[in-house]
Amino acid sequence: MKVKVKVPATSANLGPGFDVAGLALTLYNTFTFELNEGGLNITGCPTQFCNEENLTYQAFSQAAQSCGLDFKGVNIHCESQVPYTRGLGSSSTCIVAGIVGAFAFKDKTDDRQEILELATKIEGHPDNVAPAIFGGLTVSVMEEEQVLTLNVPVKHEYRFVALIPPFTLSTEESRKVLPQTLDRQDAIKNVSHLALVVASLINGYDDGLKLGFKDRLHQPYRGKLIHNYDEIMNVLENDENVLGCYLSGAGPTLMAVIREEDKMGVVRLKEELGSLLNDWEVIKLELDH
Ligand code: HSE
Repeated sequence: MKVKVKVPATSANLGPGFDVAGLALTLYNTFTFELNEGGLNITGCPTQFCNEENLTYQAFSQAAQSCGLDFKGVNIHCESQVPYTRGLGSSSTCIVAGIVGAFAFKDKTDDRQEILELATKIEGHPDNVAPAIFGGLTVSVMEEEQVLTLNVPVKHEYRFVALIPPFTLSTEESRKVLPQTLDRQDAIKNVSHLALVVASLINGYDDGLKLGFKDRLHQPYRGKLIHNYDEIMNVLENDENVLGCYLSGAGPTLMAVIREEDKMGVVRLKEELGSLLNDWEVIKLELDH
């Protein structure tokens, strides 16, 4: 029996929703699992990841233990569209696929809550794994081992223009630069901005997004790690057809939100940003439901 699992890319935080908000995008990693009589065989990903440290395998093993799957060995094949360590949830695709893959051999994939809680435990925070599991836009609350995730209905059709730099930035490195404590005014700003983003998306109040995406908890610190961050964000902020922009996940990808009918958005942004982008890749994505 072969099990195939397709998991979407995700974009976490949405500015102020650090470790809380995330959305699934129409870009996918696909993983195939097949049990064998002994040994680990990983194909389709860079050779440095083809060993027991492989995140998909780690998640598969932990999930196998939790669901009582007794296996001698496994073949894992990956087909990747989601760029590695770019703030688009590639790690979450590995974790979710590993868990779902193991659960599938025990016919247990309907238990999404268990998948969510195990995935969150492995990842450390729920904002990427939750939309990867449930699709759409999610908000998640962690309370010790428990995770509560709700989908937020998004009224309008948007397009998400991902500006993906040629360099990587690991979540670990990107979390190291964050301060341990937050000024009260900054905390109030973040709470109010996340509320504004969620209410704006539910109500289709596009004018709330530009202000809503502003964040004081992580973006100002992480921006310093990204070449041309301030200049690029400034151009995006000043484009009247960009509804809002934010750092995707831990970065370094930057995300601009535009309307579905803004068909020339990508071409226009590439022109406006010109040499600031250099070798950056610019792709237009949709919300995956
Ligand atoms: N919320 C996480 C962070 C997402 O910003 O560090 C990246 O995994």
